[in-house]
Amino acid sequence: MSELGATLVDLQHRFRAALDAAPDDRALDAVRVGYLGRNGEVTQLRRAIGTLPAAERPAAGKLINEAVEAMEAVLSEASTRFEARDVERELARTVDVTFPAIAPLTGSINPVRRIVEDACAYFRRHGFAVVIGPEIEPDYYNFDALNIPADHPAREGFDSFWLTGTLLLRPHTSPMQIRTMQQYRPPIAIVAPGKCYRRDAVDARHLFQFHQIEGLLIGEGIHFGHLKGMLAGMCRELFGTSQSVRFRPSFFPFTEPSAEVDTTCPKCKGGGSHCGMCGGSGWIELGGAGMVHPNVLREMNYDPEIYSGWAFGFGAERLGLSRYDVDDVRRFINSALDFLEQLQ
Ligand code: DAH
Repeated sequence: MSELGATLVDLQHRFRAALDAAPDDRALDAVRVGYLGRNGEVTQLRRAIGTLPAAERPAAGKLINEAVEAMEAVLSEASTRFEARDVERELARTVDVTFPAIAPLTGSINPVRRIVEDACAYFRRHGFAVVIGPEIEPDYYNFDALNIPADHPAREGFDSFWLTGTLLLRPHTSPMQIRTMQQYRPPIAIVAPGKCYRRDAVDARHLFQFHQIEGLLIGEGIHFGHLKGMLAGMCRELFGTSQSVRFRPSFFPFTEPSAEVDTTCPKCKGGGSHCGMCGGSGWIELGGAGMVHPNVLREMNYDPEIYSGWAFGFGAERLGLSRYDVDDVRRFINSALDFLEQLQ
């Protein structure tokens, strides 16, 4: 046997032994590189062919090619063996099917959103449409059309964020009354939930971004009794029957007569004295309401001799304080999920 032939036989023996000794895929690959890689032993032999007399080169090349072919076959067998071993190992692993699973994190609905949805569901059942409008309004929708002209002191009471001389972040959802009346003719029955903004210092009762639910019903023969009935029904739905609702005379430029609506303080149950939540009155204010002012109807080209209607605007966070017996509105937005998840 030629010298090269003997070298190759020896090399193949060592190659096979190294493969047999390889404990894992990675070691297998290291063996491959050591023999067949760019600087491997076989490659070096191949390079040496150039130093042989020209007549011997073809035979030497053939010998090396045959050896490489055989080595590749052995290598592929070895890697097949490894794969089979991995599969076996995987199959042999025991799985404890009784082991408790890791519960996936699931979201929950924020209580303010739930209040809004429940209130809207109540009105929808009574034939009201739910409408959504812009959070940036021109002063016409927010004030003028609601019977609050430019020099009216009520504008000051809204502490608004003005964006330009005429555009502002809406401080209430009442502009949706105007947008709806402009678009449709009576009868109208809508609720309009959404975000509102006021330049209020944040404390237990105030956020500078909060939510209101606006309601509007316009038709023939609509009166204050309808308003009381609907709002009392809504409170029963949201709070249950243990809480009462009362209407207190008040003033809003866009309603006449106007009322503020209170519900029994959930903390002292109306008992009052020394209650930190209601300040001792026994009542929590939910928002304003009243009969739509004839000036507003006229502005919309609705004849106040024919049509009448009621409107209300309630703070969703206020409804939330009351429903969930929470003592601070900031709790609704401070992302303490353990706390919020309880309030369903
Ligand atoms: N928009 C009023 C506010 O934010 C609340 C309000 C009062 C709305 C009376 C109404 C209403 O629709 O009729 O203070």
